[in-house]
Amino acid sequence: MTQPVSEPALPVSEACLRNQAPIADVLAAELPEQAVVLEIGSGTGQHAAYITSKLPGIKWQPSELAGHLEGINAWRLRSQNANFMPPLILDVAQDLWPVKQVDAVFSANVVHFVGWPQVRSMMTGIGRVLRRAGLAFLYGPFNYAGQYTSEGNQRLDEWLRQRDPESGIKDFEQVILAARKEKLRLLKDIAMPANNRMLVLQKY
Ligand SMILES: C[S@@+](CC[C@H](N)C(=O)[O-])C[C@H]1O[C@@H](n2cnc3c(N)ncnc32)[C@H](O)[C@@H]1O
Repeated sequence: MTQPVSEPALPVSEACLRNQAPIADVLAAELPEQAVVLEIGSGTGQHAAYITSKLPGIKWQPSELAGHLEGINAWRLRSQNANFMPPLILDVAQDLWPVKQVDAVFSANVVHFVGWPQVRSMMTGIGRVLRRAGLAFLYGPFNYAGQYTSEGNQRLDEWLRQRDPESGIKDFEQVILAARKEKLRLLKDIAMPANNRMLVLQKY
């Protein structure tokens, strides 16, 4: 009798399941059809699997800290999408990034998860790898004029700071300022479900 081949475990984020469709809609509207996209902080790999299914013309390069690669690879295997590239190790705090130039960068829920030094390094890296007129998409919660946009975001921020006092929801205005320093200007600030935003930046 032949034994069934067991697939590696698929990590699942419930939040990802809720937000993947609206995120893919924005990317479908904003990205050039054959864009090469670097994803930073891919997490489980679910965004990569979903978006590569919905946008077969783009080439999606996931990246993460080393411990997440196995889960992302499991989603890659499950999806069988040829445009879902093998994940790369990328720590935004490091100067050396394993990519040279891309048409776009996407990062979901990383800016609030890390501290300001990492956000600044991330902006520097994005400014370096993004081609001129290329787009960067930063998805997640942001504060405006120092204010939370919902009680849920306030609770998330408190949870984040208990876990790591350096982390927490960032002020939109400060993020835009950090982006400007790397020649990234704000093109759009799109309202997303559950009090999240999609900031669309363009390299100039
Ligand atoms: C809240 S999770 C978001 C994961 C995924 N993007 C999503 O939206 O479901 C934040 C991710 O940032 C990653 N991360 C933390 N520090 C990082 C760093 N220095 N460089 C790259 N990624 C980092 C974590 O490993 C984690 O998977």
